[in-house]
Amino acid sequence: MRRAIEIENKNTATKGKNIMAGTKSLFIPGPTNVPHRIRQAVDLPMEDQRAPDLPTFTLPLFEDLKKIFKTRSGQVFLFPSSGTGGWEAAMANTLSPGDKVLASRFGQFSHLWVDLCQRHGYDVEVIDVEWGEGVPVEQYAKRLAADTGHEIKAVLACHNETATGVTSDVAGVRKALNAAKHPALLFVDGVSSIASIDFRMDEWGVDVAVSGSQKGFMIPAGLAILCVSQKALDARRRADTPRCYFDFEDMIKTNKDGYFPYTPPMSLIRGLRVSVDMLLEEGLENVFARHRRLAEGVRRAVDAWGLSLCAMEAKWHSDTVSAICVPEGFNSADVLKIAYLRYGLSLGAGLSKVAGKVFRIGHLGDLNELMLMSALSGAEMAMRDIGIPVEAGSGVAAAEEYYRHTARPIDLSLDTAAAR
Ligand SMILES: Cc1ncc(COP(=O)(O)O)c(C=O)c1O
Repeated sequence: MRRAIEIENKNTATKGKNIMAGTKSLFIPGPTNVPHRIRQAVDLPMEDQRAPDLPTFTLPLFEDLKKIFKTRSGQVFLFPSSGTGGWEAAMANTLSPGDKVLASRFGQFSHLWVDLCQRHGYDVEVIDVEWGEGVPVEQYAKRLAADTGHEIKAVLACHNETATGVTSDVAGVRKALNAAKHPALLFVDGVSSIASIDFRMDEWGVDVAVSGSQKGFMIPAGLAILCVSQKALDARRRADTPRCYFDFEDMIKTNKDGYFPYTPPMSLIRGLRVSVDMLLEEGLENVFARHRRLAEGVRRAVDAWGLSLCAMEAKWHSDTVSAICVPEGFNSADVLKIAYLRYGLSLGAGLSKVAGKVFRIGHLGDLNELMLMSALSGAEMAMRDIGIPVEAGSGVAAAEEYYRHTARPIDLSLDTAAAR
């Protein structure tokens, strides 16, 4: 039986009022913290989406977005939508009802993607994998090799399963397709990986990549950001899934001149411009390394707490989100409740099959060591508050030491006297 929260609120002055000074801490795996520069960029007077000079802004943005996806030949689309709309656009433009799709399910988001495909009438062959593992590349390879008649039209890979904190081997899926000389289109959900974890559209032969604005791109929710290969663009001519709002055709016709087929969310797109600038200024490889290092500090903390990750092996470890298992007899929802109500810290909930069993720390986007240390500290306090036997300060100390020992070199010769 799970223990109920038995924490007494001793501060009678604020009891029940939830008064809290200072800022709340957002450590869910998206939406992520929006950097000040982007907040300023989206805080704009409304503008004319048909202005004659709009293309001087939009056309270079479309080009620069290709750098984020690491593609030369792919085409980027921006739909006013969340990531789910990105899935819908991806499938509806390239497939017809009845088409065979090979997918795997190992978390809430890979599950929802399968569900969307089934509701569109595709014939989805689902390989169920234990939650905590990722795309079963070897099983995909066998299935593709056996499909000599090329019945399978699409292969799905959820690059980063946000519900379990698992990153999969997309390059491995491409290898499996190539080894079988299979022409199926490769679809990748990169909603919680792209712009945070290395992603290579061209090198991995990805046909459609789906992302969203509210995670690695650090913008408010509301933009689905897609990248589509020429092969997948050709497939739209045969695909007869009904579509209108998400039709690539209308986007292609208007985007080529720097416009959109309907009212675009210009403030988000202005924010996206700054997001891309910030990612390219830091350098994509540095962005990935920063996420890897921050994630490793969280993993050290989890080890020090004596807890385990939902991701079953190191090869699955996600650099954008860690799903942390609470010990038997505890409910992870209690950790979330205390963290939020008492410490103003939002952590990610355990979803569906792992509800009550894991809580998640999102460590992606505009983030540094000290910001993350506050989440580790809050998680540690909330766990202790509900009686989970983690040693006070243990996780924080482990992360702290890791960050100290891997800190970037600084120029100690700088004269700071003027600042004193
Ligand atoms: C991996 C993944 N795919 C898809 C989605 C769905 O995106 P949205 O909630 O923006 O519709 C999410 C959302 O968290 C996600 O993490």
